Amino acid sequence: MEVIIKKDYDNVCAESAEIIQEAWGQEKALVLGFATGNTPLGLYKRLIELYNQGGIDFASVKAFNLDEYVGLEESHPQSFAYYMDHHLFRHVNMKKENIFRLRGSPADIEAHCRSYERKIQEAGGIEVQILGIGKNGHIAFNEPGSSLSSRTRLKILTPETVAANRPFFRDESEVPRFCLTMGIGTILETKSVLLLASGKEKAGIISQAIEGPVSASVPASALQLHARAKYIIDEAAASKLEKRDYYLWAYENRDRARDLLKIVPLKSGD
Ligand code: PGA
Repeated sequence: MEVIIKKDYDNVCAESAEIIQEAWGQEKALVLGFATGNTPLGLYKRLIELYNQGGIDFASVKAFNLDEYVGLEESHPQSFAYYMDHHLFRHVNMKKENIFRLRGSPADIEAHCRSYERKIQEAGGIEVQILGIGKNGHIAFNEPGSSLSSRTRLKILTPETVAANRPFFRDESEVPRFCLTMGIGTILETKSVLLLASGKEKAGIISQAIEGPVSASVPASALQLHARAKYIIDEAAASKLEKRDYYLWAYENRDRARDLLKIVPLKSGD
């Protein structure tokens, strides 16, 4: 796990965009996993800027959305499909057939979830999965208590999430109580993860996720089991990390470490 601490939110977004651009540089048919929420908005803005400057091209990129509310159509402004379209896809040359999402109203939910997992595999797996983190430690809609090996499935939203969503709907009866979400096991199988966090209100959960025990009570802590997970966080979100100085030190030295990997010949048997 790599913890990258940047000065502020803008720098978190710039660093994340750079990592995605680099991954795209190596593989034009990049498979990206996308998250919603407030945190990735600056990253998506930066990706649009890069696209407009010719620094990245989405013609061959494939996209998988993390989750969706049950009962909402793609055209509903609160749907995750709408969010992704509005904040990124419609601004770049992403091809419709390369956008994969969980639908809000599938006829057979379990079959739909299984087919989503299959599509991820058929695409060769997700190369870079973007994640936010909830104040309760959730990743995607895997709320605390989610199995660490869970797959894409229906989840019951917490009463807090339902209440927080209430202002965005005209009527109480419209507020979703269920969602479909990629599971923690699904996320652990992605090839790399970028978890973005910003602000002091995330500091407590960030320290639990990175430095606390791996526990279903803090779903993001499962990323300690991921071989290529990067936390990209600002100073405020990093303010409760005990090993903060080490993370900064490791970041400062990482180019030298990379050079060593390039130039030190492996002895046979290594
Ligand atoms: P936020 O949400 O980016 O709006 O804080 C993160 C999440 O709940 O996953």
